Amino acid sequence: GRMAREAALWLLLLFSAHLLLRRASAIDRGQFPPPTSFLFGTSTSAYQIEGGYLEGKKGLSNWDVYTHKQGTIEDGSNGDIAADHYHRYMEDIELMHSLGVNSYRFSIAWTRILPRGRFGHVNPDGVAFYNAIINALLHKGIQPFVTIFHYDIPHELEERYGGWLSPEIQKDFGYFAEVCFKMFGDRVKFWVTMNQPNLLAKFAYMNGWFPPGHCSKPYGNCAFGNSSIEPYIVGHNMILSHANAVSIYRNNYQETQGGYIGIAVAARWYEPLRNTTVDQLAVERAISFNVPWFLDPIILGDYPAEMRKILGPTLPEFTLKQKKKLHATKLDFIGLNHYSTWYLKDCIFSSCEMDPMDGDARALSLAERDGVPIGKQVNIRLLNTNSCY
Ligand SMILES: *[C@@H]1O[C@H](CO)[C@@H](O)[C@H](O)[C@H]1NC(C)=O
Ligand SMILES: *[C@@H]1O[C@H](CO)[C@@H](O)[C@H](O)[C@H]1NC(C)=O
Repeated sequence: GRMAREAALWLLLLFSAHLLLRRASAIDRGQFPPPTSFLFGTSTSAYQIEGGYLEGKKGLSNWDVYTHKQGTIEDGSNGDIAADHYHRYMEDIELMHSLGVNSYRFSIAWTRILPRGRFGHVNPDGVAFYNAIINALLHKGIQPFVTIFHYDIPHELEERYGGWLSPEIQKDFGYFAEVCFKMFGDRVKFWVTMNQPNLLAKFAYMNGWFPPGHCSKPYGNCAFGNSSIEPYIVGHNMILSHANAVSIYRNNYQETQGGYIGIAVAARWYEPLRNTTVDQLAVERAISFNVPWFLDPIILGDYPAEMRKILGPTLPEFTLKQKKKLHATKLDFIGLNHYSTWYLKDCIFSSCEMDPMDGDARALSLAERDGVPIGKQVNIRLLNTNSCY
């Protein structure tokens, strides 16, 4: 916890020094619209910062169980304490205030509010914790921007029906979202239903990196899973869960609470490695398997044609009723988390090793073309340890 905090401060200092050195070309607040119409923020996720994993009558999450299982995390570390935000949130809010930000995106730990999902009670200690954060933020003039789901689900849902693999989760997600609207919606005006579900479906069910650690060859060597089908089943249940939450908000809360609801997706971008038709088509495919995988159904009511063409019946279908629901819910805003752009090489007509990050798009992403990097190199070590996936 302390180390993460010091690393964050160190980064901040570094950034400030960088600005001082480059004063002439530095970006400043004045170049952006006024704070009344433009939010500048910081962002976190519950499991990565809170700690206090058994405090406040919290239930066990999929991450608690996964990181405690011998062999899943190389160095044996876990989020039991993390950045100790559970105890130090006031200090953290002071830090944000000192930065001059006017918004803060954070996620709500499902297991603090509903330790056993919809199979148990609403936990007053969990509600009190987020009430304290929301009230302190508003007191400092910082808009709470709340992510309802950022990868952590009650372990009980994993045990009962296999978590995101089951359509049952749509009910649980709707129930959780509704409790959030009911408890916090009088003060929270910005809701993100899910953070990067398009990345999570791959990390958890294609590559086996995130809980529940499912995968199959050639993507990885896991005890359970099927990398060819599970990511798409999970994605389908996530899309319908999202629609469920939006529909509940639209029908019962938005009019009286006057807030906005959207989703945040991981938005990789691609440039063709070579100026050839095959690489250009590979780019179309890889893009489809990223953002449109989720946003096409949510906005247009069905998956992209490029995905259907490759996956056929492996890609689930939406019923007419579900399409209608998707069509009726729409979005108030779209959140894009962008890390980097890659050169992309076709792997259908050329022989190459497919990149798991590109899923079934049958392509390989590369950081360089003829030895020249696509952009400035970021610090990989920091990216791996401190990034906010
Ligand atoms: C994954 O599921 C597909 C479709 O049911 C099946 O053909 C394939 O053999 C499965 N792969 C593994 C590794 O179980
Ligand atoms: C790609 O190739 C086309 C046709 O050969 C050419 O007109 C175009 O300028 C090329 N683009 C780049 C970026 O090299």
